[in-house]
Amino acid sequence: MNTQIKKITPESLEMAKNLLLEGQVVAFPTETVYGLGAYAYSQEGIARIYEAKGRPSDNPLIVHIAPNFDLLQIAREVPEGAKALMERFWPGPMTLIMPKNRETIADTVTGGLDTVAIRMPSDPSAMALLSYTGMPIVAPSANTSGRPSPTSAMHVYEDMQGKIPLILDGGSCQVGVESTIVDLTDEKPLVLRPGGITLEMLREVIPEIDLDPAVKQVRSVDASVVPKAPGMKYRHYAPKGYLILTQETPEEVARDLEEDLQTISGDKLGVIATDEFWQEMLKAAPQLEGQVAMISLGSRRDDMETVAKRLFGALRQADELTLSRFYGEAFSREGVGEAVMNRFRKASSEWRER
Ligand code: TXA
Ligand code: MG
Repeated sequence: MNTQIKKITPESLEMAKNLLLEGQVVAFPTETVYGLGAYAYSQEGIARIYEAKGRPSDNPLIVHIAPNFDLLQIAREVPEGAKALMERFWPGPMTLIMPKNRETIADTVTGGLDTVAIRMPSDPSAMALLSYTGMPIVAPSANTSGRPSPTSAMHVYEDMQGKIPLILDGGSCQVGVESTIVDLTDEKPLVLRPGGITLEMLREVIPEIDLDPAVKQVRSVDASVVPKAPGMKYRHYAPKGYLILTQETPEEVARDLEEDLQTISGDKLGVIATDEFWQEMLKAAPQLEGQVAMISLGSRRDDMETVAKRLFGALRQADELTLSRFYGEAFSREGVGEAVMNRFRKASSEWRER
């Protein structure tokens, strides 16, 4: 199959609509990551998503809707508390779990669950597609299962080339990590997956909301604590190399690398960190320059939003550079740091705490 990449135009939107109606999948940008979209009422389209991604079929999909879409077409009821969150954070990077409308939403969408995940994205390209088609669109992140989520059309192309007919190109994603998933269907309101809408922001609306205990763990030490979002149990992304996520200082990481250089031969070494971290490492050990690959998460001065935006691209780059052993700079879990650390630790092989 020939995979076309097209900017959003009236023609490409019409092409996307026809493909979706035919049960094909179309990749499109959102403010979080690129999605692999199918018409939510097309069994053929849904099956194609799982096939293109190589995704386990018990991992349910998120239904994306336009602002004027009638929620009750897909949800059987809107839970208490959801209205206030929707008013504040929709359209935007927040997904809400609701009891599903069993007449319209198939078990193949929800992995057999009686609930459905719904999201109204704010990205102008996503909105254009959803409004133009008027369709509810199911979409997981548009990566091959086991790869980092795509934050540019090129990332999607790397994974989906030859597997899907169309990628709508809306540039790079503003948030860079997947949406915050909030579950209000139980007595205790829970964040099932941290994302661009932070716990702090949610608590301004629902003070008692908390993180799913399984998400709270920095490492999954206790296997009996099972996450409520089926997808959160997967390791997600296993880089080819060995990633050590560390709270050590730049000086300590520099020392680790010097040791690696002496003791391990033939390894490609690297660091995924902010520019400031790298500068401090070089101050401590200038000889590392040229021997260790530096993948930048931006400047710490630009804050965590930049780090979030760059993280998945940085992880892809580590594989491209065929790094076999590399260190990641750990961040505070405040604000969007929670989402960053959640993804970063899932990608890592080792966690070093101070
Ligand atoms: O930002 C996003 O949410 C992106 C863009 C494309 O919108 N999508 C995305 O989809 O991240 P995906 O399929 O990669 O992740 C969906 C997550 C999975 O962890 C899944 O288990 C969870 O949502 N999920 C879906 N339906 C659920 C439900 N009914 N109950 C609990 N978790 C659910
Ligand atoms: Mg995903």
